[in-house]
Amino acid sequence: MTVPLYDTSTPLEPLREQIIERLAAVVSGGRYILGPEVQAFEREFAEYLGVRHVIGVANGTDALTIALRAAGVGPGDEVVVPSFTFYASAEAIPPTGASPVFCDVDPDTANVTLETITAVRTSSTRAVVAVDLFGNPAPVQQIREETGLVVVEDAAQAAGAAANGRRTGSLGTIATFSFFPSKNLACFGDGGAIATDEDRLAENARMLRFHGSKNKVTFEEVGYNSRLDELQAAVLRVMLPHLDAWAEGRRAAARAYEQAGLGELVALPLAAPGAEPAWHLYVVRHPEPDGLIADLDTAGVQARGYYRTPVHRQPAMAQWGHGAELPATDELARTNVALPMSPVLSSGQAREVVDAVRRASALQSASTASPPGLAPQR
Ligand SMILES: Cc1ncc(COP(=O)(O)O)c(C=O)c1O
Repeated sequence: MTVPLYDTSTPLEPLREQIIERLAAVVSGGRYILGPEVQAFEREFAEYLGVRHVIGVANGTDALTIALRAAGVGPGDEVVVPSFTFYASAEAIPPTGASPVFCDVDPDTANVTLETITAVRTSSTRAVVAVDLFGNPAPVQQIREETGLVVVEDAAQAAGAAANGRRTGSLGTIATFSFFPSKNLACFGDGGAIATDEDRLAENARMLRFHGSKNKVTFEEVGYNSRLDELQAAVLRVMLPHLDAWAEGRRAAARAYEQAGLGELVALPLAAPGAEPAWHLYVVRHPEPDGLIADLDTAGVQARGYYRTPVHRQPAMAQWGHGAELPATDELARTNVALPMSPVLSSGQAREVVDAVRRASALQSASTASPPGLAPQR
């Protein structure tokens, strides 16, 4: 492939030695679970986000379940969640005893809005999982202020983004991150975190990640064994100081796409007013996505569709998803195409991708007489 869909290794090249040194220090130090590296990472990440507490957990899925439970969500409650997201955003809800209720998204931002949430809200709605999808901040503050619900910000894909001068992960009642290796802030395995300003929620989350106990003597809740481990925390501490530069690299790549004329060929993703995305994936829309992906592949440009079967149509979600009418979700699931995106995608590569999209579009319009069904945006 000339231009890969993402590039997780080039940004790490200059950090390789430092990472190996930090890992060796953990191995020599002999503390592997909930030791000084996790404590320091929790402090540093909280400072970065501008929140009082960060709690390291085993992955982003556990982070969501624990955050929901820490905020008091439980049996009998409904939790509104978008269907156009990675499956885990919804999968994390039933283990709390609550039921997921699927809502639609804005097709231009691919995110939930106050309106799409209000459309499915009932008297049993206790919380919302607002996903900052593809690194694009959802209107979390507005949803929080205008609904009065618990808002869990699923920032798994959005480390390094901001909205109205505040970082993603600080916008909800409580927020969650995944440090899965392809994420904007990543470790070398599974890892996750919960962030919140509220002392009581932080205390609950800390207890839940450790078997529901504060002291390993008394077990107050049926909790989880879900901790970020020392080796992963050590890696994350090396990476965190570079997150802003990487996020800026992602924004620069998006600008390069726009400047090269991508918006004349496909519908571009939009950021809400005041939002500064950290594009985890750069997902456009095209009426013939599979043809475009195949033509790009031939041209050496890697692209792929995400979440073709939205979560409410997944077999495991049948009891909650059945009958949901989510037209924007269905349309996005059908038409989306993720184009190459990384902190190091150069403007030359962006031009190469746009040229390949232009040639593919010309090929497609030569083979079909019908006009495109999606008007390019912006
Ligand atoms: C939006 C979203 N939420 C939750 C998760 C779950 O994170 P993890 O894979 O670390 O469990 C992911 C990641 O894969 C994700 O993209």
